[in-house]
Amino acid sequence: MPVREDDASAFAEETLDPANWSEALALSHRIVEDAVAYLRDVRDRPVWQAMPDGARARFFTPLPRTPEPLADVYRTIAETVMRYPMGNIHPRFWAWYMGSSNFTGALGDFLAAVQGSNLGGGDHAATLMDQQVVNWCKEMIGFPAAASGTLVSGGSMANMIGLTVARNKKSGVDVRERGVAAIEMPLRFYGSDQLHGCHRKAMEALGLGNRALRRIPSDGGLRIDIRALGKAIAEDRAAGFQPACVIASAGTVNTGAIDDLVALRALAAQEDLWLHVDGCIGALLAIAPENAYRVAGIETADSVALDPHKWLHAPFEAGCALVRDAIAHRGAFAAEEEYLKTSARGLASGVWLHEYGLQTSRGYKALKIWMALKEHGIEKFGRLIDQNIAQARYLTDLIKAEPILELVAPTNINIVCFRYRPADADRVALEAINSEIMLRLQDEGIAAVSDTTVHGEHCLRAAINNHRTRRSDLELLVRETIRLGDDIAREGEAAQVPVQNRFRAP
Ligand SMILES: Cc1ncc(COP(=O)(O)O)c(C=O)c1O
Repeated sequence: MPVREDDASAFAEETLDPANWSEALALSHRIVEDAVAYLRDVRDRPVWQAMPDGARARFFTPLPRTPEPLADVYRTIAETVMRYPMGNIHPRFWAWYMGSSNFTGALGDFLAAVQGSNLGGGDHAATLMDQQVVNWCKEMIGFPAAASGTLVSGGSMANMIGLTVARNKKSGVDVRERGVAAIEMPLRFYGSDQLHGCHRKAMEALGLGNRALRRIPSDGGLRIDIRALGKAIAEDRAAGFQPACVIASAGTVNTGAIDDLVALRALAAQEDLWLHVDGCIGALLAIAPENAYRVAGIETADSVALDPHKWLHAPFEAGCALVRDAIAHRGAFAAEEEYLKTSARGLASGVWLHEYGLQTSRGYKALKIWMALKEHGIEKFGRLIDQNIAQARYLTDLIKAEPILELVAPTNINIVCFRYRPADADRVALEAINSEIMLRLQDEGIAAVSDTTVHGEHCLRAAINNHRTRRSDLELLVRETIRLGDDIAREGEAAQVPVQNRFRAP
């Protein structure tokens, strides 16, 4: 029988639970009402706005030592965090590569926090749901049911998991026990010069070092040059290295280019290399009826990284690593600890999910993904991916129709690289004008795009990974880019200052 202590006042014991549940409920209702209105009206607000000093100052207050009513705490949040967001849930946010979240996912995160489970493992419902979401991810990309996987913070960690298993399998020694110094021939990993920066971090963290990752030139379509890759592998073998792993990009971060996965699978098989696919951007194309063909072959990879917080729009964070060889996957991370023993029944009789990654405690990421997938069904998510790709094509056509705008890279999927290009501007001037356009679009709250350099050419970059974007938003982007570009050009002519010197910080 549980012990019940009726006379709590006899003890000076405290708890974090609300002292008054009715007040807590009333405030919670208000927060939910505000949250619903916040999301409903997101289009009416600026995409982003600079924080005034007064709002910034509120994050430089001393450590709170005494209590403050929750209603006051919430007011601070409403006046700061909610008013000055990054903006990635806004229909005109296309910077870097984000997802735009969804309300059901937010409810999932709330319930996950209320329920409070630790997904390190154990026999409880959340563990089963975590495994089910991983199984659904496998199914989405056509991976075998016997493969394993794990939900992680995002793509960087998902790639890290895949590359760790690749290193261990290809090292020829017990790396876990003996370390990388025991590897006889230095390992080489390969990817295109368009690889995401997280792979460099992974190589460093894996003890292989940045130089062990050879960047192979990309072709005119920004995809890895397979002949150059074959040549690099042969050179490395001749020089005493051990080619170990090809990292294919299924959607590069710069332009969305998708490497030829079928050719890479064939080459990896021929050369006995691990094939890891960085599918953080593009793996989920596999569920999009009109565009699934672009990632044909992904189901043959040895490991895949994908990101539910991108094209499934799960609230941050949610990434997923999938590994074909479940035994190798567990073997790369599992360590039996005396304080985490499996029991025949009871709480510890379930699967230990922490044995598939680096974390021991794990947040309950599955619920927000599970609820949104159940509510909308996978077919809708697939259509939304097709919709973003069609929108990127539409934006591309709008840009092509404007003589003052220029497309800087081919539009592959949902990333459009373009710039404002006055006839007389050199490279330096172009970068200055376009950077200023980007900043004014942000400052005026119109749209958020970012910039990058593709094969040496600076450009603006719109990554349309947003289920709220409409074509009219893209028409506005084109109109405003031209307006701001014209303004900037006019200001320069009036000031008689070379354009490249106009926007330097004093
Ligand atoms: C191709 C690619 N790989 C990896 C990552 C890293 O993913 P995350 O930011 O979820 O860690 C990104 C992020 O945009 C990406 O575009």
